Amino acid sequence: MKACASAPGKVILFGEHFVVYDKPAIVSAIGLRAYAEVERSDRGIILDGWTGENPAIRASAYIAEELEYSGGINLRIWSSIPQSVGLGSSASVSVASAAATSLLLKGELDLELIMRAAHIGESLVHYRPSGIDTTIATYGGGGIYTRSKGFRSMDFNLDEILIINTGKARRTGDLVKKVKEFKDAHGEEFEKILEDAEQIIWEAVDALRARDVESIGKLMLRNQELLRRVGVSSKEIEDVIELCMKSGAFGAKLTGAGGGGCVIAVAEEGKINLLMENLGKSFEVMRCELMAKGVREDSFPDLP
Ligand code: PMV
Repeated sequence: MKACASAPGKVILFGEHFVVYDKPAIVSAIGLRAYAEVERSDRGIILDGWTGENPAIRASAYIAEELEYSGGINLRIWSSIPQSVGLGSSASVSVASAAATSLLLKGELDLELIMRAAHIGESLVHYRPSGIDTTIATYGGGGIYTRSKGFRSMDFNLDEILIINTGKARRTGDLVKKVKEFKDAHGEEFEKILEDAEQIIWEAVDALRARDVESIGKLMLRNQELLRRVGVSSKEIEDVIELCMKSGAFGAKLTGAGGGGCVIAVAEEGKINLLMENLGKSFEVMRCELMAKGVREDSFPDLP
């Protein structure tokens, strides 16, 4: 018997990095998903095509340990989420693997257990993960996440966002460390940045509820300025943002850890096509659904 589950990727609309220091961030699940399929076996926990440690294997192994299952598991994964560019691909894969294992061994999706397992898996590749990626991949939708208070879901009136992939992969842990170095060297300035970041969140909540796209854009630019100051922007990100603004966007910012990865942008409906055309000449551009469904039982895609 096989079990399969899928989990969404995510975009952080506002507040990445500052969320590591217990400030709120606004996050949404997106319409790209990771799929995991599992079946019992008589060997260890094995991921198709992979040798060595991996967050998905770790997450699946944690579920097996918690459910006192000592047999083996064969794991197969497929994902439409680009990797290492800030869209939560690794967390989604960990959540989907944990979920498929929960279905196989327990016959249900135990969300609490799945999230714990995925967080442990993520700890292998991240440095101090805030938990935002695994939380949104589990629960889906959108809302405000704070490290100490967890996730509070919220209805945005924004159903789509433009995601532009700079094409430069990077490691989240390296960038989280870079921000820590900035904090250690510029303690007072960092405290002030954290206060400004929180203020942006509360203004963004109102703008998102009111679907005030122009204000959302301006707040993105303010958030980007703070991320630039702590050292996580990059030439690729700045070039993409500049091109977005020249093509008529209301605003744009990096999403996720930065240092490359993806940029998000908002614009009025009439300008979206021009933006997609201008950016699409040099970059992968996705018009992505927000507020996507969280982890669920699913069927593994038919691969060519
Ligand atoms: O780049 P991603 O998708 O791994 O996003 C990380 C978000 C950070 O705030 C930079 C780190 C974290 O654990 O919250």
